Formats: sequence, structure tokens, C-alpha cells
Amino acid sequence: MKRGTTIYVYELAWILPSVAIPVGMLVALLVTALGVHIHLPGIAGQVNPNKVDSTPPFDHPGMVQLGPGKYEVHMVARTWSFNPAEIHVPPDSQVTFLVTSPDVVHGFFIPRTATNIMVLPGQIARITAHFAKPGTYPFLCHEYCGLMHHTMSGQVVVDAESDNPNLSHSGGE
Ligand code: CUA
Repeated sequence: MKRGTTIYVYELAWILPSVAIPVGMLVALLVTALGVHIHLPGIAGQVNPNKVDSTPPFDHPGMVQLGPGKYEVHMVARTWSFNPAEIHVPPDSQVTFLVTSPDVVHGFFIPRTATNIMVLPGQIARITAHFAKPGTYPFLCHEYCGLMHHTMSGQVVVDAESDNPNLSHSGGE
């Protein structure tokens, strides 16, 4: 009898934490999701992934000028290309990218800048990059998205000549 009691206490010492830990995690999850409004990073809105091509601003991918040295790029990332795939801005430009995907998860990564986001279907990701010096800044997809993932890239060209940046209208290159 005494022996049985000992085993019970011993088991209880394991059972209680094994229940308390998942319950604690669930509570933490609910508090952060519902209470503190923690959500996906960089999310600027949502869009029906099946209607990306007819939903502004993604129906006309390209770049618009917001003010002196300030630009906004409306970009569609789909297997296996970015549209627009190339933008030109003058030095010392602040460029905000709004990126979405109509198909699968892509990435948007500009090395040498602090630009590194996931592009999820249905979600609009927003990130702002500053391009101080002239040069070519390649960007690439860094989430595996299929057979030709490694070819999915583009570039930001920062040159003194682009005082009148090629603000694209219909975008489809
Ligand atoms: Cu798109 Cu990898």
C-alpha cells in the first residue's frame, strides 16, 4: 500500500507539469494573438490572392513617386518573377515596397539593406528601404517556391541619371 502511494505521488509530479506546460503555452498564445494584437510582421493589409491582378494597386504593378526622394513600389511576386523586376531611383531615395503573392509563399530580400520579408498569398507585406549611394542592388526570392526559385530576382538601380525615374504605368515587362 505504501509502495503504491509512492508511485502515485511520483507520477503526479510528472503529470501536473505535463498538463500545466501545454495549458500555459495555449494561454500565452491566446493572450498574444487576441490580447496584445501580435500578428505577422510587416503586414500592411490583405488581398484576395485570386484577384491580385484586378485589385489596386497590384492591377498596375510599378513605382509611384510620393514626394521628393520618396517612392512606393507596388510589386507582385509570383512563380518565378517579380513585377516590376527592375526599378530606377536617384541616390538618397526612400523606397517603400508593397508586395503580395497570388500563388505561393515567396521572399523579398535585398542584400546590403535591412530588407528581408516573407511574401504570403493573401497578405500585403510592406517594407521601406533607403538607397543612399549609386549602385545596383539585386533583390531575390529567398523562400523556396518551386523548380525555378533560384531564378526569381530583380534589381534596384540607383543612378544619378534617374532624376526622372521610370514610373511604370502598366508594369508588365
Ligand atoms: Cu519565389 Cu522562391
